[in-house]
Amino acid sequence: MSDEDRLISGNKQPDENAKKSVDAALRPRSLDDIYGQEQLVENLRILIEAAKSRSEALDHILFYGPPGLGKTSLSHVMAYEMGVNIRVTAGPVIERAGDLAAILTNLRKGDILFIDEVHRLGRAVEEVLYPAMEDYALDIVVGKGPSARNIRLKLPRFTVIGATTRLALMTAPLRARFGAVFRMDFYDIEALTHITTRAAGMLTVPIEEDGAIEIARRARGTPRVALRLLRRVRDYAQVRADGIITQDVAGEALVLLGVDELGLDEIDHRVLKTIIENFGGGPVGLETIAASISEEADTIMDVYEPYLLQLGFLERTPRGRTATHRAYQHLGLDDLYREQPRLF
Ligand SMILES: Nc1ncnc2c1ncn2[C@@H]1O[C@H](COP(=O)(O)OP(=O)(O)OP(=O)(O)O)[C@@H](O)[C@H]1O
Ligand SMILES: [Mg+2]
Repeated sequence: MSDEDRLISGNKQPDENAKKSVDAALRPRSLDDIYGQEQLVENLRILIEAAKSRSEALDHILFYGPPGLGKTSLSHVMAYEMGVNIRVTAGPVIERAGDLAAILTNLRKGDILFIDEVHRLGRAVEEVLYPAMEDYALDIVVGKGPSARNIRLKLPRFTVIGATTRLALMTAPLRARFGAVFRMDFYDIEALTHITTRAAGMLTVPIEEDGAIEIARRARGTPRVALRLLRRVRDYAQVRADGIITQDVAGEALVLLGVDELGLDEIDHRVLKTIIENFGGGPVGLETIAASISEEADTIMDVYEPYLLQLGFLERTPRGRTATHRAYQHLGLDDLYREQPRLF
């Protein structure tokens, strides 16, 4: 693998590639394939039409929000809609400023540079990105010692699309260089039902509408989860039923997978139970929760917490996380519930 390949595609294991190719086949191609996120899609259409009518590159775009909602997919869709090339890289992959310089000098006019996990770019790399995004310029030093000179290379007009699950970890100067910043929201059940049905069609799995709705209801508002559940339910339907995904088949398969009727899995349950049973309902710090269930605090924060907050099962307070009355009810622990004294 050449150095360029390493920076652009990252180091993927072969089986990861195989799984990725199924994912890739299920990826939406155009904006018309995106169900849900109506307001976001409308905003993107306007960006695209405006840029096209002025024959300009798109403004730099930042997508942020929980994992699996389609940030990567949307970036590819933007390239497709603009009819331009997309180069894909990620914050942690670009280790040195020179790595970024190499990528930038290979861009052509209008190209999209997609930087996943953009909050994880190193300081020195960011410094190179600022003038590149703002002035389409690359400042490099040639020579060493007293004869060293600064030269400024002109770059073609290109577009950075950044994606992050952690907006708060991005530096202010980097954030400021994105002309369009969009938050991705969880999807509603209707959109997830569409996405599930479409994917089932592409995987040629027979599915009844109620079956798709059952999967959508338990997909935590997240397309990636819906597609993952669909694959597991398909297996179950083929092995334990007659291959057709009905509501009952979906329900049975998901119970077997430990996914409850709201889509919460074992780890969600452990997070909530720890707060309730070990810490009197909170407030308790995220690190403490993570330590007591042996999970990474980052994983809880990125993957589990957003949906628990969305459901109104968790609250973030200045002193930590608290479980709400609804969480107690959902877990059948209502008898442990005590009204919290309000201290703030
Ligand atoms: N609006 C959508 N319509 C149809 N499928 C979608 C949609 N959004 C996402 N998907 C599917 O969900 C999966 C996850 O999407 P994607 O990889 O773009 O998420 P992401 O937000 O980039 O996640 P991460 O933050 O983890 O990288 C993909 O396989 C994609 O096909
Ligand atoms: Mg992604």
